[in-house]
Amino acid sequence: MAKTLFDQVKIGDLTLNNRIIMAPLTRMRSRQPGDIPHQLNATYYSQRSSAGLIISEATQISPQGKGYPATPGIYSDQQIEGWKLVTNAVRNAGGKIFLQLWHVGRISHKSLQIDNKLPVAPSAIPAKNSGTFDSNWQPVAIETPHALTIEEIKSIVKDYKIATQNAIKAGFDGVELHGANGYLVDQFLQDSSNHRQDIYGGTIENRSRFLFEVLDEIIKIIGKGRVGVRLSPFGTFNDMSDSDPIKLFSYILSELNNRNIAFVDLIEPRASSAGGSDNQISNAPSTSEIFRQKYDGFLISAGGYNAKNAPETIANDKADAIAFGRYFISNPDLVDRLKNGVELAKYDRTTFYGGAEKGYTDYPFYK
Ligand SMILES: Cc1cc2nc3c(=O)[nH]c(=O)nc-3n(C[C@H](O)[C@H](O)[C@H](O)COP(=O)(O)O)c2cc1C
Repeated sequence: MAKTLFDQVKIGDLTLNNRIIMAPLTRMRSRQPGDIPHQLNATYYSQRSSAGLIISEATQISPQGKGYPATPGIYSDQQIEGWKLVTNAVRNAGGKIFLQLWHVGRISHKSLQIDNKLPVAPSAIPAKNSGTFDSNWQPVAIETPHALTIEEIKSIVKDYKIATQNAIKAGFDGVELHGANGYLVDQFLQDSSNHRQDIYGGTIENRSRFLFEVLDEIIKIIGKGRVGVRLSPFGTFNDMSDSDPIKLFSYILSELNNRNIAFVDLIEPRASSAGGSDNQISNAPSTSEIFRQKYDGFLISAGGYNAKNAPETIANDKADAIAFGRYFISNPDLVDRLKNGVELAKYDRTTFYGGAEKGYTDYPFYK
């Protein structure tokens, strides 16, 4: 029988009610000071808990991992307490939620760092044509980052471990390692941002070392059945590129096959700038086409899905689940709408980041 979006599916240690995933979405609405999740965030996520699985907005594992104002963290006791509001609300509404673990690396600004320190990266290479917002929400260019020492790298791996312990305390069903979109893990993977000549640079094995050191720590803490990894082969957001993405990501997927984790979440590069614009790149390579064959486990595909191509992708077995980003912003009842053929509401880009209820918890349910 053909697979549908509405099948119950097993993913690692969990059973999901459907194959519709809420993609991780940064909304920059945590409580200040302290980057603390609060009741407004709990309401937002619980409204969307009919998703088979929610993957939380990217969440910094340490103060250093922060790159934008008001994104939430998972390193302080107050943040853990705040996230409990979210995980309880989602669970009470029958949903499941993973925390996306994030370190932005070079995509940050001094004003967001402790003691105004420089952001860090594998190499002292700035992301060109890229930007963020300083602590006063003013757009700023990316600075030349500090190249991490081996000791500093080890200390970041430890931060991921502590963040995973905190995610368990906060009641998450699992964690997704953010290895996509030009943030720290991706900066190590791709050779445009990694010019290191030690064991973390050069060969594909060396460039992947940081990803697997972090992943193996996370698996030790929470167990492989509750871990996913997000990757964005061919993605250009945050000034990323690699000289041989097929070879690089094929190697990573073969190593991931050995780990038997809950899922891999691949972003289709046709959705430009990680959802930052509505332009679709029509001739972009398809990650699910290229990499489906290389990965034995559960594959989530994200990027540019709608009511037509999502069920087709599942029926044709190009992926095991579909993650929706922008449409989950504007359709809290996305699952119901897809099931009943109800038109999807259009999102308002001006309210993606920052603010309060408007454009966040006030999108109506169709029923
Ligand atoms: C407002 C916004 C915030 C996003 N935040 C994140 C994030 O925190 N982590 C991440 O991995 N991707 C993030 N993305 C990318 C989305 O998860 C998704 O891959 C992208 O929007 C393409 O899917 P779509 O076409 O269904 O929107 C974001 C996208 C948007 C539009």
